[in-house]
Amino acid sequence: MNVLTPKTRAEIERQRDRYPQARSAVLPSLWAVQHQLGYLSPEGMTEVAELLRLTPSEVQAVASFYSMYFDRPGGRHHVLVCVNVSCALRGAEEIVSHLEGRLGCPSGGTTADGAFTWEHTVECLGACGGAPAMQVDHHFQENLTPERVDAILDGVRDAPAAEGPAGRPHRSGGSAAQRAS
Ligand code: FES
Repeated sequence: MNVLTPKTRAEIERQRDRYPQARSAVLPSLWAVQHQLGYLSPEGMTEVAELLRLTPSEVQAVASFYSMYFDRPGGRHHVLVCVNVSCALRGAEEIVSHLEGRLGCPSGGTTADGAFTWEHTVECLGACGGAPAMQVDHHFQENLTPERVDAILDGVRDAPAAEGPAGRPHRSGGSAAQRAS
């Protein structure tokens, strides 16, 4: 039984037909799945593989490489905090510790009200000039202080989940997002 809706399957087929090689459509196809389900379920990835005539492992390998794909349901909003060198030198540890206390769950966790899933990453987000930095629903937030973090979280807490590539949580631990314990 298919888990993807006819609309999602049609979008994947449309993406597939745009490229000379179907495998070029893996990334937008995974977006389509994530837009529908909120994350990439194994069943959803298997359907992508079928539609693109690839093996499930080929699709899963792509999905696990990118931090914007999520392997389980998460909160409405995703917070990703950089702890790489520039951010670490400018107080990322304090930001992480503040988030943990404020959100009441460790990195990789989801708040009890379902509003946020957050994690820290050892991969530079590419915003070193504004360190310490984080992304909220893939939008950059820079020059963080605990007070700024609180204001940012308060500003999005009650908002609906973002859609599209600037969207929502949550993914696996491949090369990108390295979760804390
Ligand atoms: S080190 Fe944090 S954004 Fe580059």
